Amino acid sequence: MIFGRRPTSVPGEGGAASKGVSAAPGEQAIRFTDVSVGVLDDTPTGDVYRPILTAVDLALTEPKIAIIGANGSGKSTLLQLFNGLVTANSGQVLIDGLDPMAQPGQVRSRVGFVFTDPAAQLVMPTPLEDIELSLRKRVPKAERRDAALAVLDELGIADLAERSVYELSGGQRQLVALAAVLAVDPQILVLDEPTTLLDLRNREKLRLCLEDLVDRRGVRVIFSTHDLEFAELADRALVVDDGRIICDATPAEAVAEYRRLIMSDSS
Ligand SMILES: Nc1ncnc2c1ncn2[C@@H]1O[C@H](COP(=O)(O)OP(=O)(O)OP(=O)(O)O)[C@@H](O)[C@H]1O
Ligand SMILES: [Mg+2]
Repeated sequence: MIFGRRPTSVPGEGGAASKGVSAAPGEQAIRFTDVSVGVLDDTPTGDVYRPILTAVDLALTEPKIAIIGANGSGKSTLLQLFNGLVTANSGQVLIDGLDPMAQPGQVRSRVGFVFTDPAAQLVMPTPLEDIELSLRKRVPKAERRDAALAVLDELGIADLAERSVYELSGGQRQLVALAAVLAVDPQILVLDEPTTLLDLRNREKLRLCLEDLVDRRGVRVIFSTHDLEFAELADRALVVDDGRIICDATPAEAVAEYRRLIMSDSS
């Protein structure tokens, strides 16, 4: 299987790649125009295109966006398009006017991505070293340790600074992974199921941290979640079903639509 490779033909997707969108200079918006992602499955009769996301059109400008939907519906794939971790097979993605494929460095310095599984992004033996690594291009070596401690302190986890990351609990690791991303001061913060490992206190801490990032630093936050109460934090919510955005509304409306969908599927 090949992920993110342009298929020879995408059923029902004629000409999307050439359509494109143009962004106003300096605009702050995440724009998807007719974006599709799929994989080619090897079969005895040749490659068969299997869609993962189909014809996604979006213009996201709100500070807090939630993405909800069933397992396997396409949420993580959608989020990974935001910083080029996944490539669109057709259509166009523009992040504040930047193309994640053509300008990967600029997009990645703007978009911070927090994975569901913190093990996917923590590479150093201790939280302090991990944050110091994140800071290496922004903070002189002599000041890095204090700056890293300040980031950990902001999330209330300075006491974990010199513990082994392997000995931390899942929730502690999730907060350290968030700290490592916040250390590089992203303008857009993408979080894939950020509350899965968190207890009630840390979930509340995360909520306050996100509110603060939006209100004080003007960060735009986009997160996927199965925590429907947490989704209510957003200004706008999308429901993904089988690779399509089937609802784009207020969180309350989106959650109601998602519940209807699940109930109708199971009846
Ligand atoms: N690299 C890949 N190669 C092939 N198929 C993939 C790949 N990544 C994802 N998929 C498939 O794409 C579909 C959507 O996956 P995705 O991870 O985006 O779902 P999700 O909505 O995030 O699910 P969950 O709630 O379980 O995290 C799934 O059927 C998945 O198996
Ligand atoms: Mg996912």
